[in-house]
Amino acid sequence: MYRIETKINTASREFIENKTAFLQILQTYRDRIREVRKGGSLVMLERHKKRGKLLARERIDLLIDPNTPFLELSSLAAWGEYEGQFPSAGIVTGIGVIHGRETMIVANDATVKGGTYVKETIKKHVRAQQIAIENHLPCVYMVDSGGIFLPEQSKVFADRFDFGRFFYNQSKLSAMGVPQIAIVMGSCTAGGAYVPAMSDETIIVKNQGTIFIGGPPLVKAATGEEVSAEDLGGADVHTSISGVADHLAENDRHAIQICRNIFQTLEYKEKQILNISPVEEPYYDPEDLYGIAPIDLRKPVDSKEIIARIVDGSRFQEFKARYAPTLVTGFANIMGFPVGIIANNGVLFSESSLKGAHFIELCTTRKIPLLFMQNITGFIVGKQYERGGIARDGAKFVHATANAEVPKFTVVFGGSFGAGNYAMAGRAYDPRLLFMWPNSKISVMGGEQAAGVLIQVKEDQLRASGKEMDPTEREKLRSEILKKYEEEGSAYFSTSKIWDDGIIDPVDTRKILAMGIAASLNNKFPETKYGVFRM
Ligand code: COA
Repeated sequence: MYRIETKINTASREFIENKTAFLQILQTYRDRIREVRKGGSLVMLERHKKRGKLLARERIDLLIDPNTPFLELSSLAAWGEYEGQFPSAGIVTGIGVIHGRETMIVANDATVKGGTYVKETIKKHVRAQQIAIENHLPCVYMVDSGGIFLPEQSKVFADRFDFGRFFYNQSKLSAMGVPQIAIVMGSCTAGGAYVPAMSDETIIVKNQGTIFIGGPPLVKAATGEEVSAEDLGGADVHTSISGVADHLAENDRHAIQICRNIFQTLEYKEKQILNISPVEEPYYDPEDLYGIAPIDLRKPVDSKEIIARIVDGSRFQEFKARYAPTLVTGFANIMGFPVGIIANNGVLFSESSLKGAHFIELCTTRKIPLLFMQNITGFIVGKQYERGGIARDGAKFVHATANAEVPKFTVVFGGSFGAGNYAMAGRAYDPRLLFMWPNSKISVMGGEQAAGVLIQVKEDQLRASGKEMDPTEREKLRSEILKKYEEEGSAYFSTSKIWDDGIIDPVDTRKILAMGIAASLNNKFPETKYGVFRM
């Protein structure tokens, strides 16, 4: 494969200014990550440690193989909500390696409101299981939770993807033959009791873990019976009387070791075979991405310059280089894994849509994972293009993306607006993982365009009743819309709501994608079947 020839001058004023501005954006991101990773309040942290318990992230560190990375997902979930009282939404989820097996780990953070579940906690837990289902990843649940955060019960209990979905997913994973292990390291109350009860094997920590359908206060209220938590559902009871748990652990460390030992007994599963090449670092420094990444989204950025800093040896086998250049397509390797890359280089036209659909067919036929690199304002608009059938051609691209059964990965490195979000494997298109860079923005359209549309609609309404819009009123409306779009379009708004799997540092993109591709090989790629491509 040929190396991409860069046109970037890293000594230019433009590059240096962009890098300086980006480093500030990155600082904010790092500060926020550091903040949420502390967990709950100091008082809660102290109390947790005094009880001899390890923190959620310490538990995970001990669970995974030494010197292997943990791909934490949606660390900034619930960011800006609940007056900051639910850092990381009170749960840590992510992919780690245990005895060489990529595993989905779900760990409650009991220092955050007793590890209870608000809407975002549930969404993270369900998303983690969804990733496990799609990639056939074994699951470890490190349980330390008071169940539903009761004041929010109406938002988390009864709907399709609410609390009940955990146990539905556990049943489905089990039927698929995917191993699930629970470690009960604290409270495991009410519905939560099904987490250990539905796992293949369950470990419980002595004088610390409890499992019950109704806790002591509920039992007292319901039956008048007075019973201690330990007597009702402690480790001794469940390992010697009820049989709800299988292994008794002395403490957190012991429990984690037992879990690791269980992993040594799991069935070996064949993986998807890929044509893997020797790993080669990018020829161009990935830190250049700070000087290139779009901060002002109106400024065009050549996505090949981004690709050059992510892929092995900066080598790229471009497909249809001379045709429809607003969509870059081609093959490359990321840490040795082959990928087909589709990257935006401007607005999507009919021919770019056809090129995208053609390239997706190549990747699904060759069984090569797809990487979508989004910086998209949308499909082209205007009379000429509507007459040329942009809707019909755009639909082909959307159709190909939706039906592509090779693992899809999406990175938003700039804007993600309009139906471009769909064709480029936005969240609704089930990419295996979707990440945002901290500078990126996502919304139905840009603030300026939305303001233009809404002002136009308002003016038409007024004109129909013989009135004109007051210029001050127009300006007020414009600035309100711009402010709203600025806020709601931010990567932090998206990640808070778990529309993505997290915000990432551009420099880590390559490593993170490689972990995602490695995990995806646990589920052999199914055959792709397309439906009707309207011609
Ligand atoms: N809903 C809402 N808030 C809850 C809660 C719940 N289910 N469980 C705990 N909390 C809150 C507490 O009010 C407290 O909040 P604060 O910090 O603002 O005072 C915080 O979580 C920590 O609780 P605390 O009891 O002080 O911590 P703990 O570590 O000693 O005990 C639990 C944690 C989870 C074992 C205990 O709080 C408990 O048993 N909760 C009720 C569990 C339950 O019955 N759940 C059923 C829901 S399905």
